[in-house]
Amino acid sequence: MLLRYLSAAVLSTAGCAASRISFLDLETSHRDHVTRSALPDLRVLEDALEALRVMQADYFQPWLGMWPTSIDWTAAMMGSHVSGALESISQGLELIRLEQDEEDYRVKENLVTLYFSQLVGYYFGQDAFAIRNEAFDDMLWVVLGWLDTTQFIELHTALHYRSAPQGVSPGPAQELPTLLRNQTWHGNIWIPAFAHRARIFWELAARGWDAKLCGGGMTWNPRLEPYKNAITNELFISASIAMYLHFPGDANTSPYGSPSAGGVADSENITTSEWRAHDPRFLHAATRAYAWLRNSGMTNNDGLYVDGFHISGYNNQSDNNTKCDVRNEMVYTYNQGVVLSGLLGLFKVTGNASYLKDGHRLIQDVISATGYDLRHDRPIDDLPNLEPGQLPPWRGIGRAGVLEEVCDVRGDCSQNGHTFKGIYFHHLTAFCAPLEFVTAPPPPAMGEQRLVQIRKEHARACQAYLGWIKHNAVAALLTRDAYGKFGMWWTAGLLNVTLDALDLDQEGIGPTDANAADYRNYGVPDDALWTPPGTGVTPPKDVFDEEHGQRPLGGRRVRRETALDSDPNNRGRGRTVESQGGGLAVLRALWEISRQGFD
Ligand SMILES: *[C@@H]1O[C@H](CO)[C@@H](O)[C@H](O)[C@H]1NC(C)=O
Ligand SMILES: *[C@@H]1O[C@H](CO)[C@@H](O)[C@H](O)[C@H]1NC(C)=O
Ligand SMILES: *[C@@H]1O[C@H](CO)[C@@H](O)[C@H](O)[C@H]1NC(C)=O
Ligand SMILES: *[C@@H]1O[C@H](CO)[C@@H](O)[C@H](O)[C@H]1NC(C)=O
Ligand SMILES: *[C@@H]1O[C@H](CO)[C@@H](O)[C@H](O)[C@H]1NC(C)=O
Ligand SMILES: *[C@@H]1O[C@H](CO)[C@@H](O)[C@H](O)[C@H]1NC(C)=O
Repeated sequence: MLLRYLSAAVLSTAGCAASRISFLDLETSHRDHVTRSALPDLRVLEDALEALRVMQADYFQPWLGMWPTSIDWTAAMMGSHVSGALESISQGLELIRLEQDEEDYRVKENLVTLYFSQLVGYYFGQDAFAIRNEAFDDMLWVVLGWLDTTQFIELHTALHYRSAPQGVSPGPAQELPTLLRNQTWHGNIWIPAFAHRARIFWELAARGWDAKLCGGGMTWNPRLEPYKNAITNELFISASIAMYLHFPGDANTSPYGSPSAGGVADSENITTSEWRAHDPRFLHAATRAYAWLRNSGMTNNDGLYVDGFHISGYNNQSDNNTKCDVRNEMVYTYNQGVVLSGLLGLFKVTGNASYLKDGHRLIQDVISATGYDLRHDRPIDDLPNLEPGQLPPWRGIGRAGVLEEVCDVRGDCSQNGHTFKGIYFHHLTAFCAPLEFVTAPPPPAMGEQRLVQIRKEHARACQAYLGWIKHNAVAALLTRDAYGKFGMWWTAGLLNVTLDALDLDQEGIGPTDANAADYRNYGVPDDALWTPPGTGVTPPKDVFDEEHGQRPLGGRRVRRETALDSDPNNRGRGRTVESQGGGLAVLRALWEISRQGFD
């Protein structure tokens, strides 16, 4: 909290050209002489590639084009993780060597093609028809996933191939040498397909915007009582600004012949026709949604996003309330993450530094609420002197300086919960990317001097988070089993928690707020707040039914029977593709952000 107030006082206001920009109220120059070698630590990249290898070799099924133990939305997120990892591979190709000084392009291209071909397979394995009937957030993971893949294709092409405006589309006959020389990277042929799917799902999700209740905001699930939550709105912000920046346009009208034949049309004049790149409707949607979220009152005393709002008296004829006034105090890690990539995008388009300021403040509040002191770069609790099985107290979104879900300590997180920490680190990595304005549309008019200053300060703040990111990556690595599979509860790795010593009744083990409903892990409560009366919708079914929601564990049974097993990460669902994605994401964050310190 201290940090938060200090930075609020020091931070300059946006748009004031003369003011000094500061995203971090810390002197960080002392870091410059800490363990500076000539190159970033390549072991981090190796660990990340190993996490990816295990994820794809053990959990992905090429004949189905998917990760069969995932559910629709978690699979979309796994696609984002693979695309992110491919970006790291593409940018790190010069560092990936067989042996000293040995360059072998065949091996490297094979590495890229291995994972890229799996993403192409997943395009066909993704159950697009089912997701059309799911909640608005489910649809938006699909949008972000294919835009992540599109961005990887653009990056890989720019770094290693000739970009061809026409891609590899047919043209006049060419001499073979010209044809070979002019060919762009083959991945480009998929961009129209990925763009089409992203556009379709963005349009479907845009129906979730509702101005009648709470003065705006996205509704979570059309089949439940109105509930406006952080995740659906954060996704809409990030997906919309990513559409504005990266969607290349789409002339494919399938599955609608024409807008009048069942296309989407609403008061915002969103129709299925004529979607061009940099359509201002995407930018409008993103800025409006962030303005709403920022004023929605969805952050708690720690500065963290709580989950969302109900509207009291919604089904009471004589109650006219339309305000978001019943707050669900539940905190999840993913709610602190997804908005970050949106904030970076909003800054890139508008040049308004207050978006970056909001992002850095949220990150610093999260770090602090894991029990980590950024000023001294260490956990606030005295970890070495803990009794065996004793845990430091819950600090708001973790303990011992490690990010945690509330359900982690009991080991009974659902598949949703298993995915959350990976989402957090995926979007943190995106936010801390170097501030480059490489994409059209042209960057906002901004004095060169001010841009340099913002870029420098953004990088300085991101570098300051490295100690905390590394602390979390180390914890995650310590949960790996003999097969390289990451566990869900990272703190257990750091503190070497064994089940026989773990006392789940100890004081301070978790938050105790009666107004927090952990519906993402234990299902939607069957009460009037969540369930429409007389509609027959029973939410737990909707969310947890095998047919519609969480799938069983596939081949690997829960290892509950191994009572002698003292590893807390073998409880519940055990190790999953989702927890593997989490391990990959935190390692990639460490690799990408530390690598920037060397540029
Ligand atoms: C092939 O590349 C050459 C330049 O190397 C360019 O002049 C020519 O227009 C290209 N042809 C096609 C079909 O893109
Ligand atoms: C929607 O389009 C119609 C016809 O082009 C136009 O008259 C109307 O003002 C538009 N509505 C909005 C909200 O932009
Ligand atoms: C419905 O709303 C009215 C007016 O606010 C209130 O007096 C009444 O108690 C409410 N009924 C129920 C069942 O909550
Ligand atoms: C609710 O709205 C109706 C119709 O607009 C009005 O007659 C009634 O007085 C309002 N009730 C309350 C409690 O404000
Ligand atoms: C910058 O963005 C913030 C929202 O984060 C907004 O309140 C402010 O009005 C914007 N400033 C300008 C100059 O557009
Ligand atoms: C973790 O604890 C167990 C049991 O107390 C012990 O055998 C093991 O060596 C410890 N591992 C580490 C890495 O400290």
